[in-house]
Amino acid sequence: MSDGHKKIEHEELLPGDFIPEQDLLDHEYDGIHEADNPLPKWWVNLFLITIVFAFVYTPIVHMFDLLPKRFLNRDIAQAAMAAEQREAELIASGAYDQDPIGAGKKYFGTFCVTCHGAYGEGGIGPNLTDNYWIHGPSEDQIIATVTNGVAAKGMPQWGPILGDRKIKMISAYVMTLWNQPPPTPGKKAEGEPYDMATIRAPKEEAPTDSVTASADTTVKI
Ligand code: HEC
Repeated sequence: MSDGHKKIEHEELLPGDFIPEQDLLDHEYDGIHEADNPLPKWWVNLFLITIVFAFVYTPIVHMFDLLPKRFLNRDIAQAAMAAEQREAELIASGAYDQDPIGAGKKYFGTFCVTCHGAYGEGGIGPNLTDNYWIHGPSEDQIIATVTNGVAAKGMPQWGPILGDRKIKMISAYVMTLWNQPPPTPGKKAEGEPYDMATIRAPKEEAPTDSVTASADTTVKI
């Protein structure tokens, strides 16, 4: 700092302006001097604001956790737990047993749409609404495909993730997708053609108390 003379205000300087020697600081690098000018006001104010902000933000967020709850990840986790609990209650109440296909549709929407499409029309995975199947169209075959996956082709192995019960419900739903043309043309056929009308025809003596049975009886062609 050099006292006893009027500083040149930053705003008054233009590139190439001569700066009197007494306004220069002592240090010099490769012939470049630093003028002893005040920093621009907006810069200083911004700097002060960041300091004030730090004193407000740190206690609120990191020390006393005072932010409204909806801003916090913890609440997302809580919502997920609540959803899981609701689902457990639904399962316990037997709602899923009464409507296994509805439950399967819900699970399909969560776990399968990304690859098979909202209508089963296909995408990364094959079209599930047509007559062509790579791994077979029967309920047992679908359950086996879903349970074991097809690692080499990118179909995940769902058995360890979803368990038999959910997979049965999802497969029951998948079976209802046949011959339900999606709003936009589905993925082109893959695999072998099957006589789906016969395979999906409702069975005559369908028992009514299992997931399999309700899947078969609900499938209308
Ligand atoms: C990451 C993408 C992906 C997800 C998620 C996915 N699949 Fe698949 N799925 C595939 C691929 C790819 C194939 C084809 C495998 C092959 O070519 O052998 C396939 C094949 C299938 C088949 C056999 C189709 C046929 O023609 O034989 C069925 C049934 C099936 N998936 C059901 C499901 C169900 C039900 C879910 C949800 C639980 C699901 N998939 C989730 C990618 C996926």
